[in-house]
Amino acid sequence: MRIRRARPDEAPALAALAVRSKGHWPYPPDLLARFARGLGMSAEVVAANEVWLGERDGRVGGFYTLVHRADRTVLDDLWLEPAEIGRGCGRVLFTHARRRAADAGTGVLEWEAEPYAVGFYERMGGVTVRWTASPLGRPLPVMRMTLP
Ligand SMILES: CC(C)(COP(=O)(O)OP(=O)(O)OC[C@H]1O[C@@H](n2cnc3c(N)ncnc32)[C@H](O)[C@@H]1OP(=O)(O)O)[C@@H](O)C(=O)NCCC(=O)NCCS
Repeated sequence: MRIRRARPDEAPALAALAVRSKGHWPYPPDLLARFARGLGMSAEVVAANEVWLGERDGRVGGFYTLVHRADRTVLDDLWLEPAEIGRGCGRVLFTHARRRAADAGTGVLEWEAEPYAVGFYERMGGVTVRWTASPLGRPLPVMRMTLP
């Protein structure tokens, strides 16, 4: 998988990918529709943050977003095309994100985890540090790892 920065004009395709990715989990259609409406992916977001995507044979297989704050780096998205799930791409993209976050120098990478993905993040070394209310009205685990 080749990893490169996303371009602002790719934001609509990335938003659609995120919706397909969320649909991998057994959520009812109304929740997926609310998720799609609430997605904050836009050209402005891509221009203002670090959005990296993974390509295989020229096709985008997944992406992530890093948001840099003064005291921490936030992983705001990590979505794979359903066909890419379970093939190691999540580890590749997360490892890339962790390196970028370490370079940012805040010493902390934090993210709100999709509940079905918590086991993946634990494999990556994340731990749940608190819970937060999601825009969809569910409690979501906030996970974090310290970085060198
Ligand atoms: C979460 C996601 C990114 C994981 O990516 P992936 O490519 O499927 O994961 P990998 O194949 O790299 O798996 C890495 C390790 O985590 C484990 N793992 C992967 N998904 C897991 C899960 N849902 N629960 C528990 N363990 C999981 C794998 O078994 C593997 O373990 P190993 O270290 O023993 O080999 C992917 O499932 C996805 O995009 N899901 C839909 C969107 C989503 O929920 N994104 C997260 C938003 S917060």
